[in-house]
Amino acid sequence: MFEEFGKAYWEERYRGHAAAYDGRPNPQLVAEAGELAPGTALDAGCGEGADAIWLASRGWRVTAVDIAGTALHRAREHAETLGADLASRVDWVQADLTDWTPTEEHFDLVSTHYVHPAASREALFHRLAASVAPGGTLLIVGHHPSGPQPTGSHASALQVHFTAEEIAAGLDPGRWDIAVAEARTRSATAHEGHDGHEHHEGHEGHEGHEGHGITIHDTVLRARKRP
Ligand SMILES: C[S@@+](CC[C@H](N)C(=O)[O-])C[C@H]1O[C@@H](n2cnc3c(N)ncnc32)[C@H](O)[C@@H]1O
Repeated sequence: MFEEFGKAYWEERYRGHAAAYDGRPNPQLVAEAGELAPGTALDAGCGEGADAIWLASRGWRVTAVDIAGTALHRAREHAETLGADLASRVDWVQADLTDWTPTEEHFDLVSTHYVHPAASREALFHRLAASVAPGGTLLIVGHHPSGPQPTGSHASALQVHFTAEEIAAGLDPGRWDIAVAEARTRSATAHEGHDGHEHHEGHEGHEGHEGHGITIHDTVLRARKRP
């Protein structure tokens, strides 16, 4: 499904832009994971690595996965500029999340932000949920349907919008406690939309507003797997 939005597509998108890393993690990650005790984390679709590096700086041991080698190369370089200790806490893995299965019941935190795979989103989220250790946290952030409808080919073709309730419905209520299932708005600039925080879809969705303030509509799901 949507083969055209696989590895080559993402490689091209990263190669077409200068590195955008500025060290700022996604705000919903900071809001939802800032109080968690560090352990093992999976950042699925890590891009240029701001979230993985932020987690590592807080003591997490991170597996950071992305399909785009260019993004991972930049991420690794950024981590190394921050010192060997931090760099050693992140494993950068190039893999396609549509056919990469993380170890089951393994991670204390599984975090994914604005990843819209070119295959079943439900199946991906199911695998990510399975990889959360008992007592661990699943954090899924994406674009809420209340936001502007996307104009970019990738965003519209992959139907990047979803609600937290849709994701929560796929979690076994006997195993999961839903801590947060919300739509949240936040302000950003179109520049941010272009450079790693609101990411490429955000930029696509706001073409023609470069440099102007925009409102981002986030879907936020945080759930804890019962011990
Ligand atoms: C919009 S960016 C978000 C990056 C990062 N999570 C962030 O919030 O800054 C989406 C990321 O998902 C990655 N991606 C898309 N499809 C993927 C797949 N099938 N497997 C692994 N990574 C994928 C892209 O390469 C890209 O880095």
